[in-house]
Amino acid sequence: MIYQGNAITVVQRDDGIAMLTFDAQDESVNTLSSKMIEEFEAALAALGEAANVKGLVITSAKDAFIVGADITEFHGMFRRDEDFLVDMNTRVHGIFNTLEDLPFPSVAAINGLALGGGCEITLACDFRVMSDSAKLGLPETKLGILPGWGGCVRLPRLIGADNAIEWISGGTENRADAALKVGAVDAVVSGDALEAAALDILGRANAGELDHQARRSVKQSPLMLNAIEQMMVFETAKGYVAGKAGPHYPAPIEAIKVIQKGAGEGRERAQAIEAKAFAKLAKTDVCYHLVGLFLSDQLVKKKGKQYANQAAAVNKTAVLGAGIMGGGIAYQSAYKGTPILMKDIKEEALQLGLQEARKLLGKQLERGRLSSDQVAEALSNIRPTLSYGDFGDVDLVVEAVVENPKVKEAVLAEVEGLLDDNATLTSNTSTISIDRLAANLKRPENFCGMHFFNPVHRMPLVEVIRGEKTSDAAVAATVAYARQMGKTPVVVNDCPGFLVNRVLFPYFGGFSLLVEQGADFERVDKVMEKFGWPMGPAYLLDVVGMDTAVHAQAVMAEGFPDRMAQEAKNGGKTAIQRMYDEDRLGQKNGKGFYRYEEDKKGKPKKVSDEQAHALVEEAVDTRGEFSDDDIIARMMVPLCMEAVRCLEDGIVATPAEADMALIYGIGFPPFRGGALHYIDALGVETFVAQAETLAEELGPLYRPTERLRDMAAKGERFYPDTSESDQ
Ligand SMILES: NC(=O)c1ccc[n+]([C@@H]2O[C@H](COP(=O)([O-])OP(=O)(O)OC[C@H]3O[C@@H](n4cnc5c(N)ncnc54)[C@H](O)[C@@H]3O)[C@@H](O)[C@H]2O)c1
Repeated sequence: MIYQGNAITVVQRDDGIAMLTFDAQDESVNTLSSKMIEEFEAALAALGEAANVKGLVITSAKDAFIVGADITEFHGMFRRDEDFLVDMNTRVHGIFNTLEDLPFPSVAAINGLALGGGCEITLACDFRVMSDSAKLGLPETKLGILPGWGGCVRLPRLIGADNAIEWISGGTENRADAALKVGAVDAVVSGDALEAAALDILGRANAGELDHQARRSVKQSPLMLNAIEQMMVFETAKGYVAGKAGPHYPAPIEAIKVIQKGAGEGRERAQAIEAKAFAKLAKTDVCYHLVGLFLSDQLVKKKGKQYANQAAAVNKTAVLGAGIMGGGIAYQSAYKGTPILMKDIKEEALQLGLQEARKLLGKQLERGRLSSDQVAEALSNIRPTLSYGDFGDVDLVVEAVVENPKVKEAVLAEVEGLLDDNATLTSNTSTISIDRLAANLKRPENFCGMHFFNPVHRMPLVEVIRGEKTSDAAVAATVAYARQMGKTPVVVNDCPGFLVNRVLFPYFGGFSLLVEQGADFERVDKVMEKFGWPMGPAYLLDVVGMDTAVHAQAVMAEGFPDRMAQEAKNGGKTAIQRMYDEDRLGQKNGKGFYRYEEDKKGKPKKVSDEQAHALVEEAVDTRGEFSDDDIIARMMVPLCMEAVRCLEDGIVATPAEADMALIYGIGFPPFRGGALHYIDALGVETFVAQAETLAEELGPLYRPTERLRDMAAKGERFYPDTSESDQ
């Protein structure tokens, strides 16, 4: 035994090879926490002092190799000043350099996921062998930082600047075959052959067949690129990546700059450049929010897992209705491996549903994500039917018929009679109260909402809505099924609009008021897109459809008449209502706030439309002057206030779940962390002051709650302030 720590052991074999194993006690995965780094340093020191070591194999006793740094430490660490962060990374550089400089050859045996710092440890080894099921990657830019433990220096020297830029700026997790192709690893073998393969490499290195010193020297020298190559690689990449990442995500571009600046330098100087850039990015708001998002996502996923662990098996399901949503639900279930019956009352609807599933599976085949056998298998998981035969052994049903309470009530009662007593019944309704739909059922405890978003295959969120009588078992089964479909479920309580639409409609309310006061809707769209939304409110309304928006708005007005029943001042009609009355339904019939033409690929492209402007003009009451910041405040305050109310009313359990639902459900700008993160970032006090001023002019939609005022007075926030911890 050379070293024994809590998470790392180093054992010397009879042939002199040292086996260093990561195995964090009481943890399901290995992360490089500060404690782990300290142990690693001690283990390497012990290795340096041990006699007759002939080589080193680094591996893990967990399913994954090392999943990365311990992100729960980031907020505390990143509050420290830049000098501290530079010193911190310089120290880790020193430790990893010690690994690289060991007086014997080293090999990483990558048995599972090796990400971030875990990947960077493997890069400091002379050789890498990888299990065929493992993945390797540097996802740091997704957290608003860059690989800070040598990844920006070693990876380009190992696989070329172009490949390294792709890995680092994309933050991709790369499969073994892809890693082998670019030369990131030396061999790919099956998991059980990994150790033998690693030992074989060391044997060949010691026999002089493989030159590990030459390997080291490549990683420690400047990158071999002439000036023209440099220009081609870096400048082209910067243009491309900037276009893809957009102006709100600086990390991918910074990473390219770090690789470029360090290209002409040796190891230590290139590492110093990396450390400095890392420290700068770690201090940005974007990084703060992206790290917060990661932590919230983990919390949401953990809660989902807890529910799912208590759920009865969901092996066979059914969807009622083969329309836009039903077809999408059937596809997603089948693609992810849960067989599903798709029932409709019209043969044409079934055919359309199947056709859509075929189209989406065809795309997966084209992209190489599925083989033709897998496509056939997925398709065979969907069984279209016009009858209720075979419903007896179904574990869960999703009702997705037309949005009409009478039809839904009838359909739900009908299907309930055919199901096993323990089966779960759910509805994908977007506006009808779950308690109302439960009222006619014999087993309301087995019933809850399962609200998908359109398009189902692309939108990650599923709201699981608990009614007054819904049992834990029904919630658990529904959460489990959402997870089986690859979705992120968030459990909420029943209320008009549930969580997401309840928060979205006040945002549309803010939009209507702005337009009424003379703001140009195309400008509002531009400002909100610049703020970070994937589309502005007018464009979003066109996508949602004016009929759906008008209907949902009426439901919200009835549910919350104090603030959501909007009386438009000029003639009593909002711009949205006027669009609807003129049959401008949005994208679905080619005209709404914009006109839609087909682009070259046959996709709808929006163009400005004078008629739409003339129509909106009729809704204008006064003519105000608005700065971009005014527009942002008038749009964001009602949305954020409703998120606060949902939390206060217990519709959603935690700020993290509320924020993740908005990001996954309506595309709230991720780099701003969600509505409650956004309030924290502005400062609760500042937000309340802003809301109060707006409420004076614009009414209750903008008015802060008592509780929020109280939070402002006490200096409280939604998420813990990490600025004083760990200092
Ligand atoms: N479209 C969206 O963006 C969206 C988003 C979230 C939720 N929803 C909700 O999903 C549900 C379905 O919406 P959609 O857009 O898919 O509607 P849709 O009109 O495209 O499809 C409804 C389907 O239900 C079928 N149907 C009607 N009565 C039936 C019955 N008794 N048994 C079986 N099938 C029957 C119809 O033939 C049709 O194929 C609605 O409750 C809607 O509010 C829609």
